[in-house]
Amino acid sequence: MATLVNVDGDIVPPAQARVSVFDRGFLYGDSVYEVIRTYRGQPFELDAHLARLAHSAERIGLAPPWDAPRTAREIGRTLAAARAAGGDPAPAPDAAPWNVGEWYVRVVMTRGAGEIGLDPALAVNPAAVVIVQPLPAPPASAYVEGVKAVVVGVRHAPAAVVDPSAKTGAHLNHVLAVREARARGAHEALLLDERGFVTEGSSSNVFVVAGGRVRTPPLAAGILEGVTRGVVLRLARAEGIPMDEVPLRPPELEAADEVFITSTMREIVPVTRLGERAVGAGRPGPVTARLHRAFRRLAGGPPSAMLG
Ligand code: PDD
Repeated sequence: MATLVNVDGDIVPPAQARVSVFDRGFLYGDSVYEVIRTYRGQPFELDAHLARLAHSAERIGLAPPWDAPRTAREIGRTLAAARAAGGDPAPAPDAAPWNVGEWYVRVVMTRGAGEIGLDPALAVNPAAVVIVQPLPAPPASAYVEGVKAVVVGVRHAPAAVVDPSAKTGAHLNHVLAVREARARGAHEALLLDERGFVTEGSSSNVFVVAGGRVRTPPLAAGILEGVTRGVVLRLARAEGIPMDEVPLRPPELEAADEVFITSTMREIVPVTRLGERAVGAGRPGPVTARLHRAFRRLAGGPPSAMLG
């Protein structure tokens, strides 16, 4: 399993992958991207990711250099080349079994290089990059014990300022949120909006369980429409678990029986500590575990490692 990079259709090792220092993705975060992962070597929910990539590009007026079928083909070509390159690293001793041998896929489309200046018309050749690498997924212990999250001081950008439905390379706010979370020994940063409502994690969506009902902020809270969030909403419906999309405040996180986060890389990870306090019993809870088992069945791998 080798890390390989596809730059505008040329597949090269990482050290040979080059984009210009005049690229607007580098200079301004003027780019869109998606993170996709494989199960049994196949990209999961690929159509949803490609649709969101097209939406993101449309929202910032970037003409995608590849359409969705071409992007899917380039992802497939890059994965095949990386698989063929061999040299499989030994799996991490604490890897969750369903993540071994799987791939992380990042697709980036930037407005391209041009004369320095904010005017997007200065760049006329958008660039496309696909990075594939062995999946850096959470260790099995994250599912068995849960992780710590903190509500950080960094606030989520208001939807009227930064469109949360577009997944762009302008990420400084969330970088600073993660910086704060790490300084407090936490796995994930949870961001509030300017009025104090819970929005989302730095790279995840957040859910609480209270009295057997699952709650998650609605899209109107100014959040990314996570692909995994969508899968979890569908699974909850199929499992008959009541699910509400409602605004949440920090006290509802603190009083919850269970909290969990979702993202492509993490699936469903229980949050068992919020700052210095335990969530519920301080262990992954039964509703989180049930949803994760359903997710694992859907993704077609071995069962959830979560207890409960
Ligand atoms: N991040 N919210 C934000 C701000 C995110 O960046 C992400 C994903 C999510 C979860 O979305 P999904 O379920 O589609 O992965 C929510 C990706 C994984 C990343 O930037 O690495």
